[in-house]
Amino acid sequence: MSSSIAPSPILAMARRAAALRAKGRDIVDLTLGEPDFAPPAHVAEAARAAAGQPLGYTPANGIPALRAAARRALMRDRGLGYGDNEVAIGCGAKQVIFNAFLATIRPGDEVIIPAPYWASYPEMVRLCGGVPVIPPCPAEDGFRLSPAALAAAMTPRSRWVVLNAPGNPSGALYAEQELAALAAVLRAHPGVLILSDEIYAHIRYRPGPFASIAAAAPELRDRILLVDGVSKAYAMTGWRVGWGFGATPLIARIAAIQSQNCTQTATLSQIAAVAALDGPQDGLAERCATYRVRRDAGLAVLDSSTALETPVPDGAFYLFPRLRGDQDDVAVADALLEAGVATVPGSAFGAPGHLRLSFATETKVLREGCRRIVAALARRR
Ligand SMILES: Cc1ncc(COP(=O)(O)O)c(C=O)c1O
Repeated sequence: MSSSIAPSPILAMARRAAALRAKGRDIVDLTLGEPDFAPPAHVAEAARAAAGQPLGYTPANGIPALRAAARRALMRDRGLGYGDNEVAIGCGAKQVIFNAFLATIRPGDEVIIPAPYWASYPEMVRLCGGVPVIPPCPAEDGFRLSPAALAAAMTPRSRWVVLNAPGNPSGALYAEQELAALAAVLRAHPGVLILSDEIYAHIRYRPGPFASIAAAAPELRDRILLVDGVSKAYAMTGWRVGWGFGATPLIARIAAIQSQNCTQTATLSQIAAVAALDGPQDGLAERCATYRVRRDAGLAVLDSSTALETPVPDGAFYLFPRLRGDQDDVAVADALLEAGVATVPGSAFGAPGHLRLSFATETKVLREGCRRIVAALARRR
């Protein structure tokens, strides 16, 4: 089974860009969704202080201080209360999601993954013996799953529905009433679990509180796994700390799997994550303001092209333009790489005909990358 698992197409494109650079080519790399900020200073300080202490194995579901900090942060930021046995820490949100799928998917179970999607979800599902079911959610629908599309995707084999907002790659967000409408469909399917991947919740460009399905549909609480972490909000991707909140039995199974693979995520990283969650939070708004400037700078350049139609993302740090005129996104991404800019074709996210550009990069670099895209597309016409 595992031989058919595809490696990340995002990393593949990033590697091709790096290989060309190593040969001396000037390549603007807009592939990776990785904040280019240093972590907050108090995080580095906490890690430095802890690094000199004995650091042994710690509990598989996370150090108690981080479980408590994650619960406090969820209450502070989203008004949601969870108990200590309803949270598990993992090596990034990615591992928590993988552990949850491994704990629950039986061979042939279906997982509904609205497209465009984060490229890892379908591969994780396949690794666990499941079958991804992909309802398309085009730009005209704001890249959001509609209740009708959700209902149509449900079968007796449905096991999970994946919701990811702000979405990677679309940046799409759901309003509370839209989540309530999805919840109405989900109520009729009591055996189906809901993954709410909220890893980009702090990176939003619209005012107002963040809508989580766990708040919009409290009656579904025991079927929801709410996932978050420090990677995107605190620019701590390499520290590998994420967590999931959910019903005690699911959390216990996630922790059991964790204990049998890598025991726990690094204790030092967990201590740093406590500092990120408990420390000053003003850096979040500052980083969002910077991302917004970059988003708008990229949009201004892309909008000068008649070859592209670029929706304005409400969250996350990706532009997801559509190529006008039925173009092959993989061929276009290849041509763009030749023209000196690395992007990821929308096919990697289940949305052919699009390109993903990360704006987690300096404005100057992003503008130059977008200019190269506009010029190269004009030459192709
Ligand atoms: C939608 C989504 N979920 C989860 C992750 C993984 O986050 P982590 O670094 O916490 O594993 C990513 C990272 O790109 C992502 O885009």
